[in-house]
Amino acid sequence: MYIRASVVAASLAIAAIAHGAGEGVSFEKKAHDVIAKRCTGCHGEERITAAFSSGKDMRAIQMEMQRRGANLSGSEQEVLGIYWKRPRPKQP
Ligand code: HEC
Repeated sequence: MYIRASVVAASLAIAAIAHGAGEGVSFEKKAHDVIAKRCTGCHGEERITAAFSSGKDMRAIQMEMQRRGANLSGSEQEVLGIYWKRPRPKQP
């Protein structure tokens, strides 16, 4: 039951993202919210931005962080998985 629910949640998230294609800002915000909620308890967001900007394998890092205890739901994993494939932010 639980697994089924998270699969539905994940596909809803994908549908929402597909629907919002071309609306990059709101997706950006969504990914940002996930990071703020799930990733910044142990270290600052600048650490994540730095790794992302410098071309590290963020999918691998995300898996490593989940192993360390980052508690991402299925749809949050999807959001970040797509976010890491988007153009990387430029370092100031
Ligand atoms: C349970 C604590 C914890 C959570 C939650 C967590 N991290 Fe981390 N993260 C760490 C620790 C500890 C390190 C330092 C590892 C090291 O210095 O080798 C780290 C390091 C990193 C790094 C630097 C790795 C590198 O190679 O430069 C990135 C990027 C990162 N985390 C991203 C994330 C993301 C994205 C999330 C959310 C999905 C997240 N972290 C959630 C504990 C956490």
